[in-house]
Amino acid sequence: MASTDERAVQRLALQGGLKAVASIEGRGEPKIGVEEFLAVAERFGLSASALERIRAIVEEEDWGTGPFLANYYSDLAETKVQAFERVARETFGTQYAIGLSSGTAALNSAFTAVGVGPGTEVICPAIGFFATAAAVVFARGVPVFCDVDDSLHMDAAKIEALITERTVALAPTHVMGGVCDMEAIMAVARRHGLKVVEDCAQSCGGQQNGRLIGTFGDIGCFSISAYKIVGGGEGGLLITNDERLYERAQGVAECGGLWRPDRFAPPRYDGELFCGTNYRMSEMEAAVDAVQLAKMPETVGRFRAVYTRILSQLGRYHQIVPQKLNDPAGAIGYCLRFYPETIELGERIVEALNAEGIGAGIRGANAGPDWHIYHSMLPITGTYGATEEGCPYRCPIYLERGGSASYARGDCPVADDLYDRCVNVGLNQWFTPADCDHVAQGINKVLSAYCDEDPEATPWL
Ligand SMILES: Cc1ncc(COP(=O)(O)O)c(C=O)c1O
Repeated sequence: MASTDERAVQRLALQGGLKAVASIEGRGEPKIGVEEFLAVAERFGLSASALERIRAIVEEEDWGTGPFLANYYSDLAETKVQAFERVARETFGTQYAIGLSSGTAALNSAFTAVGVGPGTEVICPAIGFFATAAAVVFARGVPVFCDVDDSLHMDAAKIEALITERTVALAPTHVMGGVCDMEAIMAVARRHGLKVVEDCAQSCGGQQNGRLIGTFGDIGCFSISAYKIVGGGEGGLLITNDERLYERAQGVAECGGLWRPDRFAPPRYDGELFCGTNYRMSEMEAAVDAVQLAKMPETVGRFRAVYTRILSQLGRYHQIVPQKLNDPAGAIGYCLRFYPETIELGERIVEALNAEGIGAGIRGANAGPDWHIYHSMLPITGTYGATEEGCPYRCPIYLERGGSASYARGDCPVADDLYDRCVNVGLNQWFTPADCDHVAQGINKVLSAYCDEDPEATPWL
């Protein structure tokens, strides 16, 4: 005969019996715990004493089940990714901003958003970075390279000759702290009804006539990687004022439609819904990047002060042409550049500058391949497709529309010449006024030894 207690255990809890599992004894630890956080702090190179202080603070905390480091389903008023996007909107004055896993993710999202797909072309600069043209291919479009001018940026005067009925967008890239002539580029784009995706990865904070780059085009893309002026670890940013473009870019970056107010509703307009991927920025990254981006004006201000102080002290030399600046006040200026008459002269100047303690470089003749110039971008120049059909270069839609993609050194002769001949002098935002004066004096000393002073030569500013 079962006792009353036994009967209570056997009876279903639904019928008033005792619960089979009254409580769980096992106790977990935070998913992201002390060691994980300290590993991040260590990675940033903090001193042993700073790490000990952090450990003492972090170990004292009672985290319960631990923090939930995700942008979605957080009960926080503002997640770190949302904070980063808010800082981006405030910094650039745009209506929309998306924090992404990389600058490449931003470009991949942007090109699909503006309508790049099979049978289309995008005009990209001859000098920039592989990721821009590769993102066009990733969106199933075909890049067409436009030559540069003395600024090393896309030559607005050469765009029109490259426009075909397949062209849907321009992809001006702001290179190495400089800025494109966006006003001229936008005029061409608007005349031809083309979208503009600005690649600002190398010049975050650059301006033309007081307007921040990234806000001229339909979409601005940024890399927030550790290599960049505003750098964290690996991150990206996309900004726009166009709601549809924002939603389509989100479509790419957020698995197709996770971002939509109702994920399962039919598309509200043509082109709203399609398959995307996951380019989400992580909370850890966003925590750093929100702070980094907020510091951007100060960082850029320091670089600009250094650049201007040095450039304003340089003499004019017959055998030297300084890089043309589309906006001297708007460039960031983390390096200064000039073109010597010949590569040989450039190599001698670079050797002498380095001997003076001034970090300088030149690519020179017969240099190896480099993913910052079109003729070295092998996956593109070789028109390699991921499958044997060779799309998008040999996509039937592209061929039907009269497209024929081929690439070779010589297509963009100004870029070919200037990229090899250009002398780069690296500058540091933390140079003191005295450091700047010493660098300027050193450059003048070397240039005076190898070139002729010429008051009629092109000025630096
Ligand atoms: C001009 C340009 N575009 C895009 C990228 C890609 O950015 P990420 O490395 O964040 O993907 C870079 C990075 O070097 C770049 O220089």
